[in-house]
Amino acid sequence: MAIRIIREYGDEILKKKSKPVEVVNNKIRELIQDMKDTMHKFNGLGLAAPQVGVLKRILVIDLYEEDFECLVLVNPVIEKQQGKQTVDEGCLSFPNQFGKVERPEKVTVKGLNEFGEKIKIVATGILAQAICHEVDHLEGQLFIDKIIPGTFEIIKPEDVEKKEI
Ligand code: NI
Repeated sequence: MAIRIIREYGDEILKKKSKPVEVVNNKIRELIQDMKDTMHKFNGLGLAAPQVGVLKRILVIDLYEEDFECLVLVNPVIEKQQGKQTVDEGCLSFPNQFGKVERPEKVTVKGLNEFGEKIKIVATGILAQAICHEVDHLEGQLFIDKIIPGTFEIIKPEDVEKKEI
């Protein structure tokens, strides 16, 4: 277990495109475990590998719900997007900064799990939002550039209730 340093805004790595993982081996699994630990340490809803300085196409998501097991996606591809939702959003790389963005209401995503097995997920609501946010990170795209004008706000750390992604 290792907590990695989260790269924050201004770090050029956040704007770079990540590369596909060729083999899901023990080294990748170690990175995934560190990403989970780092996400949990900072109470985040999700984390993408470039946020810990690794330009690989990996994301982890936790909804902190009883029946939700931490989601790991390697080389995720969004196959289908449906509907729209306007949602509050924040990011672990932009602490305490929030704004409203528009995301699909439902996505179908395929990829590999931490064992290199193919998985396919149909996600709605906050899970669809989190997947889209993390896949954007893998493309070097940041939520801050998608905020609906006039909705940006900086919230004092003690007042932050929403989880960052
Ligand atoms: Ni983020």
